[in-house]
Amino acid sequence: MRPRSYNVTIRRVDLLQSRPQTHPQTQCGEDYAALVRRYNERVFSARGRTPVAYIRTYGCQQNVSDSEKLAGMLALMGYAIADGPESADLILFNTCAVRENAEERVFGNVGMLKSAKEQNRGLIIGLCGCMTQQEHVARELRARFPYVDLVFGTHALPRLPELLWRKLHEGGRILDIGEGEGAIAEALPLRRGGKLRAWVPVMYGCDNFCSYCVVPLVRGRERSRELSVIVEEVRGLVASGYKEIFLLGQNVNSYGKNLTTPVRFSALLKALNDLPGDFIIRFMTSHPKDCDEALIDTIAACEKVERHLHLPVQSGSDTILAAMNRHYTAARYLQLIEYAREKIPGILFTSDIIVGFPGETEEDFEATCDLVRRVEYQALFTFLYSRREGTAAADLPDTLPKEERARRFDKLLELQRGIGRRVHDSLVGKTLRVLAEGPGKTAPGRITGKSGEGVIVEFDGTPELAGSFVHVKVTQAMLWAVIGQVVRE
Ligand code: 5AD
Ligand code: SF4
Repeated sequence: MRPRSYNVTIRRVDLLQSRPQTHPQTQCGEDYAALVRRYNERVFSARGRTPVAYIRTYGCQQNVSDSEKLAGMLALMGYAIADGPESADLILFNTCAVRENAEERVFGNVGMLKSAKEQNRGLIIGLCGCMTQQEHVARELRARFPYVDLVFGTHALPRLPELLWRKLHEGGRILDIGEGEGAIAEALPLRRGGKLRAWVPVMYGCDNFCSYCVVPLVRGRERSRELSVIVEEVRGLVASGYKEIFLLGQNVNSYGKNLTTPVRFSALLKALNDLPGDFIIRFMTSHPKDCDEALIDTIAACEKVERHLHLPVQSGSDTILAAMNRHYTAARYLQLIEYAREKIPGILFTSDIIVGFPGETEEDFEATCDLVRRVEYQALFTFLYSRREGTAAADLPDTLPKEERARRFDKLLELQRGIGRRVHDSLVGKTLRVLAEGPGKTAPGRITGKSGEGVIVEFDGTPELAGSFVHVKVTQAMLWAVIGQVVRE
């Protein structure tokens, strides 16, 4: 499908007629990348410097991973990637649409770029990611922010070199927010943000249509990467020193369903677990409807897979779960938790919960609190329901007063504070295997790391420990972390 583009002023017809094809190897339009690089070399060598790009990432780890691809493509085009916008020639906001406050933050921050653009007419401002994929946002951008040069959606990410080339040669505003064709662009250049943790998307999009969620509308249908491609990527990452492989997907449990030869997520976990090397495999997000006993058995059998499950429950009320289109009950959820506890001793759980879904009664909310008490999560990500245009829940009557929403939210936060602290207290005296990451926050001379259960652990040590697995005996619990001493195992 052709991308939709608006307001494009065609000034250099000769260049347009010689539009290069996307390079088959990198799928990111390498020839366009070469054109942009040559353009930049010409313009910036006269200024005695290289062009600078800044990417600001909003939202989830999938966006962090997408930004690594954007950075990879920009580096290929000759840009130095900066940590801040101050000296940037190109500013790219990779946006999130999951809740209204995330969108408002983006609009606010784009608003603040107006003066930067006035001071530097050559500055290119771009917006990409989930937010731009929505029609009403594209409309608002056109009306309120005429100085935004590039707007492209999640499906257009691999076309950044072409879009940038068009911007540089045609001027005007370039928009590309079309639907994707479903193909996954493998082998995009990547510029990873970390040296220890590598984000590895295993699938894109989502087919679940939870009634509150905009993700299926902005990221499209589920597409899985080939198992062999993921395994080879991880093999390479481990060989180059990565110690934490973080598998990403909106619903990793339905990984592989739509491949030509379908495979299960557990097969992927096993294949990665069999790779040689000392590393830990983490993954996110699991959907309780697709997480089954067989998967839990696999986690139990794979020594490299974390002893932690992020299993978003969203609500503890069956009525609300049905209205959310989640396809499980609180009882089934608790059954899974119990099974995991039995098969994987010491496993810890985290979850996402939405407070104030349309129609949520006091009784529904209390059912959520009850479930939270029964599971005893190590940590909880609590969100106030946010109405999203185009979702099924957007049409539901939503009459809960703001104050009542806030009261429930605060109550749940307070409840979890006590539970989280108790879970950390119960770790005192235990020895955890921890991947040491770098300087700690709690005291000078401390190192921070993350245990196989997903707990932040701080301990006395020297910076050379970063990147190694150490055993730490927990001596003290805090709200957000535990403190301990390195022991020999
Ligand atoms: N309102 C509030 N929270 C939401 N989430 C997704 N959509 C919404 C929404 N419309 C939350 C869910 C999901 C997490 C990533 O964001 O809890 O698991
Ligand atoms: Fe959204 Fe539900 Fe898909 Fe998660 S599983 S991305 S909450 S629709």
